[in-house]
Amino acid sequence: MTTGRKGLPDPEVLVERLLKRRTFRPDPQGSNVMFAFFAQHFTHQFFKTYNRMGLGFTKALAHGVDAGHIYGDSLDRQHTLRLFKDGKLKYQLIDGEMYPPSVADAPVRMSYPPGIPEEKQMAIGQEVFGLLPGLGLYATLWLREHNRVCDILKAEHPTWDDEQLFQTTRLIVIGELDTMKNMCVTLELLEPIPGCST
Ligand code: HEM
Repeated sequence: MTTGRKGLPDPEVLVERLLKRRTFRPDPQGSNVMFAFFAQHFTHQFFKTYNRMGLGFTKALAHGVDAGHIYGDSLDRQHTLRLFKDGKLKYQLIDGEMYPPSVADAPVRMSYPPGIPEEKQMAIGQEVFGLLPGLGLYATLWLREHNRVCDILKAEHPTWDDEQLFQTTRLIVIGELDTMKNMCVTLELLEPIPGCST
């Protein structure tokens, strides 16, 4: 039996020496890192392994484009994320800009490394989306989109209550997600897009 070194190398040294790019190198396929995060963000709404049960288990929920990664995959989670005012989702302002609320304000279960206080954890539809910055970025983008559409609908339909504004906006956002996916697939069928693989 062989044993490795007792101490692991400092990740910052590894990044500096092995991974850090000092000059820009365009992706040979014309893609970028945000495309990978888009795909990761998108697919986690329908691939739902129930990791707490074990790798062989699925949450056995719907596996379609239901935006469960934005609104949560249970009614309880959705309600905790909702502001219940003007159809909007809860949010916090940081330097005047809109971000997902903290877990202290919207107490949903999130996977974060141990020791991160609730005030620093962001509450998002999908439990693991606090772990990677690109997923947090798309979560923020869709939160802003939801609340933006709410403002437009409220201006158009001043008599609508919170529930009607929320449910209609949710349908619109699911439609937007599906349209993006369809555009990607259709364009690739016509002419393969580098980095956009179905
Ligand atoms: C920084 C990059 C990434 C990290 C750290 C990461 C990490 C992980 C981990 C730890 C799992 C769970 C594996 C397991 O249960 O054994 C997983 C599953 C998965 N990943 Fe990634 N991943 C990354 C990028 C991506 C990308 C670019 C996609 C794009 C499609 C993706 C799609 C998926 C899917 C669909 C699953 C299965 C989810 C499920 O079954 O519920 N991941 N990933």
